Amino acid sequence: MPTTVVAPKANDPCWCGSGRKYKRCHKASTERVRPGRISPPRPVPDHIPRPPYAETGVPTRTPGPHVRSPEVIERMRAAGRAAAEVLQVVGAAVAPGVTTDELDALCHEEIIKRGGYPSPLNYGGFPKSLCTSVNEVICHGIPDDRPLRDGDIVNLDVTIYLDGVHGDTNATFPVGQIDEASARLIEVTRACLERGIAAVKPGRPVRAIGRAIQEHAEAHGYGVVRAFVGHGIAEEFHTDLQIPHYDDPRATTILEPGMTFTIEPMITMGAWQHEIWPDGWTAVTVDRKRTAQFEHTLLVTDDGAEILTTTD
Ligand code: MF3
Ligand code: CO
Ligand code: CO
Repeated sequence: MPTTVVAPKANDPCWCGSGRKYKRCHKASTERVRPGRISPPRPVPDHIPRPPYAETGVPTRTPGPHVRSPEVIERMRAAGRAAAEVLQVVGAAVAPGVTTDELDALCHEEIIKRGGYPSPLNYGGFPKSLCTSVNEVICHGIPDDRPLRDGDIVNLDVTIYLDGVHGDTNATFPVGQIDEASARLIEVTRACLERGIAAVKPGRPVRAIGRAIQEHAEAHGYGVVRAFVGHGIAEEFHTDLQIPHYDDPRATTILEPGMTFTIEPMITMGAWQHEIWPDGWTAVTVDRKRTAQFEHTLLVTDDGAEILTTTD
């Protein structure tokens, strides 16, 4: 049908009355994220204990019980707290003009300062110590020389290997002033993680977690990524336990006290399907619309879940 309404121009004053230019206020950038230059892997001092894949690049996956001993759980509390602290420090450094490589350097230093090894480094050959996923990047973005721009959103995924166990947590941060739709995506994604955590109860199937997440995301018109899932975690970064973020009838494992795993929903403004960049890691939405993610490492308790990746 014909229309006489003219779309706002980038330099017009924003329709919301803020007095800022539309492009600086409610317009999300339509520019795509492009691969940048990746710096060499950062060295880890000799005194830091390493996971087995640090040398080979090949992760081990030993099948076994999903329930952890009290002694392992105590070490996971410490690793979880350290991961949460590092995420806080690196998140506070997010600002326009800062490169994702600079965030990687900070993450690497903060982890080593705590006596830990940055779990992503050489995991399956991953070249850096942090995953940085900007705008349409779903997960596993590789830090590079791209400066963050005002209006971007960036997920920082921190994992530390400390005292023989991993703590894995991530959050999505606004860069400067972000548009309202991106802010809403971030808040709904945070709520999806909270809903997923609230669904954790002994006796329920793993499926209940994804069902709660999918229901909330879709009620807001968003998509749920299927290809990447939460995972069992302890001495190994990823165990064979999978935690889908959608209602998957195959997720029949019954939750039991003592299990440790992550919940890490990736929520999309548009399509939930993904493509992988030629670097073999960076996962982007097929429609290049924005996506957000939050992650915690959890322990199943007698009546719910304890968040291990917290500083409280
Ligand atoms: N931290 C990611 C997760 O939540 C995994 C990153 S694997 C890497 O499972 F190799 F990309 F680092
Ligand atoms: Co994880
Ligand atoms: Co993670």
